[in-house]
Amino acid sequence: MKSENSVVVSNLSVKFGDFYAVKNISFQVKKGEIFGFLGANGAGKTTTIKVLCGVQHPTTGDVSVNNETYKNIGALKKQIGYMSQKFTLYDDLTVYENLSFNSSLRKLERSFFQKRIKELMDFIGFDYALDTLVSSLPGGIKQQVSLVVSMLHDPEVIFLDEPTAGVTPFYRNKFWELIRMLSKKGKTVFVTTHYMDEAEYCDRIALMRTGEMIALDSPVNLKKNVFPEPLLEITKLNASNNSIDILKNDENIISLLPFGSRYHLILKNKNSLEPFLKKYAGSFFIKEIEPNLEDVFVRLVEGDR
Ligand SMILES: Nc1ncnc2c1ncn2[C@@H]1O[C@H](COP(=O)(O)OP(=O)(O)OP(=O)(O)O)[C@@H](O)[C@H]1O
Ligand SMILES: [Mg+2]
Repeated sequence: MKSENSVVVSNLSVKFGDFYAVKNISFQVKKGEIFGFLGANGAGKTTTIKVLCGVQHPTTGDVSVNNETYKNIGALKKQIGYMSQKFTLYDDLTVYENLSFNSSLRKLERSFFQKRIKELMDFIGFDYALDTLVSSLPGGIKQQVSLVVSMLHDPEVIFLDEPTAGVTPFYRNKFWELIRMLSKKGKTVFVTTHYMDEAEYCDRIALMRTGEMIALDSPVNLKKNVFPEPLLEITKLNASNNSIDILKNDENIISLLPFGSRYHLILKNKNSLEPFLKKYAGSFFIKEIEPNLEDVFVRLVEGDR
């Protein structure tokens, strides 16, 4: 029976020599889902994407994208669009030349290509001339054109490896609007990012740590399940550097970490909240807060300290 899932990964491992870049991970991505793939540098995100795109072969395990695998690379390539992490466009070619070159690599029919350019440039709201040199485009627009290139053949599943790295907040927002529109059209978007505000926009997030998948859930569930205890934001009342030290030996504190100019503190349980507030109200501004994904990420990846 054919799977309803767009992406299926079963017990995937990728070894380079003795080193596991990806270690026995399994998950599925549903059609139309925005799937966020998170993890620190070297966690194995790009390696996993390369395997899904047929560029890298698994050491062990199986993967498929819309029921196709790297064993039938021609069929797999029709299903997937891939925007790689480092290289996206030829800077010294015009926008049109980049599109046309990629179209010929994909062996697209001329008439189909012309129709797609029109559709996709409208989709991103491109208002430069097509004969503009890529090197003269703003970084954020370049990334949008790269997205267009990856979608010329109208793939069902699109892999975006850090598409917004180094892009200004304005264009990051625009790029995520495009991702949401794609998902609404039923396209599956598999995206990596180091920006936690972007991770919030994903339907589900997988968190990778040194090749292993340590969490997989919706942003809401991750925040709820990773933080059953109260999370407090602490601000020093005065600029004294040492005042935070009085918290260091408090047994009711599970973790205390700097967060910008403030501290985020996890308490042992709900019962310790009232006494804690009473005890320290004279020393700090204390506010109970909802965890954000950065808190989740830090706790899962680094553990409590
Ligand atoms: N071809 C290769 N040969 C040897 N080691 C490799 C190869 N490709 C990746 N690695 C190693 O595998 C690990 C995972 O790399 P990968 O590029 O998948 O990480 P990543 O999660 O994408 O990181 P980043 O956030 O920096 O892009 C790293 O330690 C990397 O150095
Ligand atoms: Mg990477």
